[in-house]
Amino acid sequence: LQNTSSVDAGPIIRKVFDGLRARGNALLASARFRRWAAAFPLTRPIAQRRARQLFDLCAGFVYSQILYACVRLQLFEMLAEGPLSTAALSQRLDLPINATSRLLNAAVSLRLLALAHDGRFCLGALGAPMAGNEAIKVMIEHHAMLYADLRDPVALLREGPRDSELGRYWAYARFSGDAELQPAQVAGYSALMSASQPLVAEEILDAYPLRQHRCLLDVGGGEAKFLSAVAAHAPHLRLMLFDLPAVAERARHRLAALGLAARSEVHGGSFHADVLPAGADIISLVRVIHDHDDAVALALLRNVRRALPQGGVVLIAEPMSATRGAEPIGDAYFGFYLWAMGSGQARTPVQHGALLESAGFERIRLIPTRMPLQTRVMIAVAK
Ligand SMILES: C[S@@+](CC[C@H](N)C(=O)[O-])C[C@H]1O[C@@H](n2cnc3c(N)ncnc32)[C@H](O)[C@@H]1O
Repeated sequence: LQNTSSVDAGPIIRKVFDGLRARGNALLASARFRRWAAAFPLTRPIAQRRARQLFDLCAGFVYSQILYACVRLQLFEMLAEGPLSTAALSQRLDLPINATSRLLNAAVSLRLLALAHDGRFCLGALGAPMAGNEAIKVMIEHHAMLYADLRDPVALLREGPRDSELGRYWAYARFSGDAELQPAQVAGYSALMSASQPLVAEEILDAYPLRQHRCLLDVGGGEAKFLSAVAAHAPHLRLMLFDLPAVAERARHRLAALGLAARSEVHGGSFHADVLPAGADIISLVRVIHDHDDAVALALLRNVRRALPQGGVVLIAEPMSATRGAEPIGDAYFGFYLWAMGSGQARTPVQHGALLESAGFERIRLIPTRMPLQTRVMIAVAK
């Protein structure tokens, strides 16, 4: 595994790069140079692109709130039926005409919507995939909590997430007696995880088809949404799930409703305190490891190792840091999300590899997924 976050070009080359960057930064700090670069034909496109990138960083929260308004108002669903005029939308959205017009123009500028030839509004390239997409919709809606927690980011960094909304929502994140969590405390996040699971399950199962396995244990398996996708994908597989008791109960109901009760075994407990059940030859951890700090993640992986026979496989699926082309998703988005939540971090594949090795795994490898920014898949074999 290579740490893709930094190019190991050797200390001398790195020092040369550092020197060049320092000189470049000194130039960029000069207002005179910036004026010149914006005027000179060869540097003008670069100057304009950088200025736009900086502006987008300043304004990103406004763009997010415009998207949030569109989702809450179900604008994408309305336009999925065909183009509509401002007046028609004003009525359907129950907004004054000038406010409707403000929202529609903003959404067009963000490519969420587009203008049809007759002046009516239709879905744009970024809005079309949103229509009826429950998985993305619920993720955007639950960002209201993150938005509140990030109101004073410096206080959040200094004082930690003492009383954050996300900390309350993800009740297990800071609760040492997590096995005693009540149904109402797990309902919100369990429903969110189920609704957003389709973004993940297909990616994993296309990357690692599970043909050679006979029994899969999904640890932190939530309401069994991933497990039910596994059931359809690999009909020969026996299914097991482990989650906190209140969540395991939800999984039992779901599996029974799908007619999968006889094929599956659901265990309630805490992976911090309880030994994971044996019997599976593959254990999956889907969006689980990044919730936990290193010591907890390592203890969990050791627990997983003990539950597997030699040669058994662990599969980790989650977004990772240092994913080329998606760097801010790991380090900025998940970095701050998990900080606000109160535990965990996005890890690079190399960091995952180190934890897996310490926990007693070998032959650690990343399996390519179609959308690595959403989910990366890593597998390792029990020594
Ligand atoms: C982020 S959710 C992921 C759920 C599911 N794997 C998915 O991707 O939809 C993390 C899951 O880990 C479970 N969990 C957290 N702490 C746990 C613990 N100590 N023991 C067992 N499960 C735990 C949570 O209840 C939750 O279902």
